[in-house]
Amino acid sequence: MSGWFETVTEAQRRARKRLPKSVYSALLAGSEKGVSYDDNTTAFTQLGFAPHVAGLSAKREMATTVMGQDISLPVIISPTGVQAVHPDGEVAVARAAAARGTAMGLSSFASKPLADVVEANPQTFFQVYWMGTRDVMLQRMERARAAGAKGLIVTLDWSFSHGRDWGSPKIPERLDLKAMLRFAPETLSRPRWLLDFLKSGSIPDLTAPNIAEPGSPAPTFFGAYGEWMQTPPPSWEDVAWLREQWGGPFLLKGICRVDDAKRAVDAGVTAISVSNHGGNNLDATPAPIRVLPSIAEAVGHQVEVLLDGGIRRGSDVVKAVALGARAVMIGRAYLWGLAAGGQTGVENVLDVLRGGIDSALLGLGRSSIHELSADDVVIPRGFTRSLGV
Ligand SMILES: Cc1cc2nc3c(=O)[nH]c(=O)nc-3n(C[C@H](O)[C@H](O)[C@H](O)COP(=O)(O)O)c2cc1C
Repeated sequence: MSGWFETVTEAQRRARKRLPKSVYSALLAGSEKGVSYDDNTTAFTQLGFAPHVAGLSAKREMATTVMGQDISLPVIISPTGVQAVHPDGEVAVARAAAARGTAMGLSSFASKPLADVVEANPQTFFQVYWMGTRDVMLQRMERARAAGAKGLIVTLDWSFSHGRDWGSPKIPERLDLKAMLRFAPETLSRPRWLLDFLKSGSIPDLTAPNIAEPGSPAPTFFGAYGEWMQTPPPSWEDVAWLREQWGGPFLLKGICRVDDAKRAVDAGVTAISVSNHGGNNLDATPAPIRVLPSIAEAVGHQVEVLLDGGIRRGSDVVKAVALGARAVMIGRAYLWGLAAGGQTGVENVLDVLRGGIDSALLGLGRSSIHELSADDVVIPRGFTRSLGV
């Protein structure tokens, strides 16, 4: 491992160097022209701070709770389904999150069984899509509950947009000998990544064990994706049904509009995440930080409002909290950390964010994230978007 890094950008640079091209490209993701992908980070750079110089606080507090879980900083792990980044995959991420006192979101498309991830971090939420029949969804929820999931994340913003102007990565159905030979040139040019897998005695397993039918083998990524594509999209009644069946803490991920946020409240959710799926979904959807203020104002007193998309620094977290988020979820930042250094790399990313939050709180003269408000942030004219009002 190549030592500590001090920015998420450096973690990304190391990930690019270490991973085979297809794996790095699958992790970068984004859809179509990448308008949303770009806006997610650009929007944060357009927000400024209004710092103080004296009367600053010697101690800064950043602990909070999300869906009943105590977390030591307002950052949790967003579920991501990219596999083959590191042999320990989601278990390494879960361990890192536990070591740094925060919660883990595990994707339906994860490569490790939920029970193993819960063992590594009891503060684990399981993420599902609306996929398969109601009976199948009930079975999945029951198994997630039995495995110890502390909450359900339901992700609804996906419109199966597959084209990407900079080229979509080639992902094989299975990593059999034929596929390995086809990928050999790019894999062999990344010997350290390959060595990590060889040392672990495994090859990347492109299956989704958490959505296997009872008694059946885990479906391949593409098999599961096919089932999902064929499932008619859910109505708000379906969402309310799902919420009722689960019973426990329930987060609806992917909200961009005030009217949808209000419907989510009506459906009885515990929390929402203002999100455009990291710019991987309907391209040209604005950055979540632009739509956050209107949504937080409309429903922030009724449900927990989280944000995900474009978080690369502690100061981004502070901007989101100042504009109404209770906490944020991170995606690529920890994936790059995982690729760069396994569990240590993810811990490093969380430390970078913690340091950045602390430094922004100091500069703003705040002693706690709970004191942050829109007054701390310089919002340029025309920055925000209010959708569905
Ligand atoms: C490679 C990749 C895979 C993802 N897979 C999932 C997934 O399986 N389920 C889900 O709810 N979100 C998924 N997401 C979205 C993330 O949970 C999150 O919304 C997004 O990454 C946040 O943006 P950021 O990467 O800029 O932090 C994925 C994102 C990436 C980059």
